Amino acid sequence: MEKLVIEGGKPLEGTVRIDGAKNAALPILAASILAKGIHVIENVPNLLDIRVMLQILEALGCDADFREDKVVLNTDGAREFHIPEHLMSKMRSSIFLMGPLLARFGQVRVYEPGGCAIGLRKIDLHLRGLEALGAEISEDGDTIVCKADRLRGADIMLDIPSVGATENIMMAAATAEGITTLRNAAREPEIVDLQHYLNAMGANVLGSGTDTITIKGVESLKPCRYPIIPDRIVAGTLLVAAAATKGSVTLENVNPAHLHAVIHVLRRAGVSLQVEGSSISVNNAARPKAIERIVTAPYPSFPTDMQAQIMVLLSLADGFSMMKETVFEGRFKHVDELVRMGADIRVDMNTAFIRGVRRLYGATVEATDLRAGAALVIAGLAATGTTVVEQIHHIDRGYDRIERIFQHLGASIERFVEAPAVKHSS
Ligand code: UD1
Repeated sequence: MEKLVIEGGKPLEGTVRIDGAKNAALPILAASILAKGIHVIENVPNLLDIRVMLQILEALGCDADFREDKVVLNTDGAREFHIPEHLMSKMRSSIFLMGPLLARFGQVRVYEPGGCAIGLRKIDLHLRGLEALGAEISEDGDTIVCKADRLRGADIMLDIPSVGATENIMMAAATAEGITTLRNAAREPEIVDLQHYLNAMGANVLGSGTDTITIKGVESLKPCRYPIIPDRIVAGTLLVAAAATKGSVTLENVNPAHLHAVIHVLRRAGVSLQVEGSSISVNNAARPKAIERIVTAPYPSFPTDMQAQIMVLLSLADGFSMMKETVFEGRFKHVDELVRMGADIRVDMNTAFIRGVRRLYGATVEATDLRAGAALVIAGLAATGTTVVEQIHHIDRGYDRIERIFQHLGASIERFVEAPAVKHSS
């Protein structure tokens, strides 16, 4: 078991270059299955989830070589359409392979996916979308089997704009026969990145970034070289960390347009931010201001993946704030941990009521999911005294050695590997 030990209270200072986005890289790596041959994907972040995706692709018969930030992927040898259970249970994003495997092999077999414990996270919209494209879906023991001799374009309306379902349907429809119109689609920048990748392989996809995506099926796709967009959630996390520690940090290689909602909220909290080209600087000496009401919702609204981090800032703000979570149920597990650090937060259903305190205090806390874990690291950096964050494998899913990023910005933060408990026989 690894843990992070943080001596808080130092303002973060320095410059960081932001890596590629996990949530863009995962579906793009899955989509590579659609085209036989050698793909070169650049600006890929070195994260646990990415390594699991590459292990799954290898288990399916692909060859993957991941060096620095470049993945060279040969999909020629892909033969398998059955995703192994032990890999599927490690990461929910393994379901991204459903659409591409179905399109390439006419069938796919998956187990219920794993991933962060942030709510029910059903896959019914993915399955209904694939069914609309002509797949037959059945259950065989604890696996779900999808089969289709030929996928056919369809008019599909999503009940809610699910990011994953939008991406799965786009990938499955890329080589289907005829035109697919996907309505009430999610509009996240990672979906636009997937469209660009599919089109770079020869697909004909239009409209991503809006709520209606049109996919004209093409006969086949060709591999290509493609760079992943910068990670807006890692960038947002660092902006909040800089603000919470009253630091002075510049982020490079960001797309500020992807961070509109986060920048807006930070400015409302009184944080001084300068945006210039592809860099954003924070310079925050003052206590943050409370924000009356923030509601998480699909892009371009405030992202659920930044809710926990912003809550740390609001915990330290001058006044009362309210945060409503509308995307996932069960995404307030960080609240109890923040309260252990001295925060004053009460949760009622899907809304957190936050009364700002002047100080947080170091404590031993547990990362319950990826972004909750990142929030606790920010809290530890801003707190007085020593914070120990446990269960940090969650954090490693989305941040490349988070302690190195913060050490580089002058923080006192170390990773320790706990020795396994020794049993004494008497
Ligand atoms: C993606 C992101 C995740 C982010 C989330 C919302 C990736 C790898 N992950 O997750 O970081 O927090 O978008 O921005 O890109 N739902 C259903 N049925 C389905 C699918 C989803 O009911 O078939 C529900 C979910 O339970 C959730 C809501 O829809 O309440 C949104 O989920 P979705 O947009 O699908 O999130 P993910 O794609 O899983």
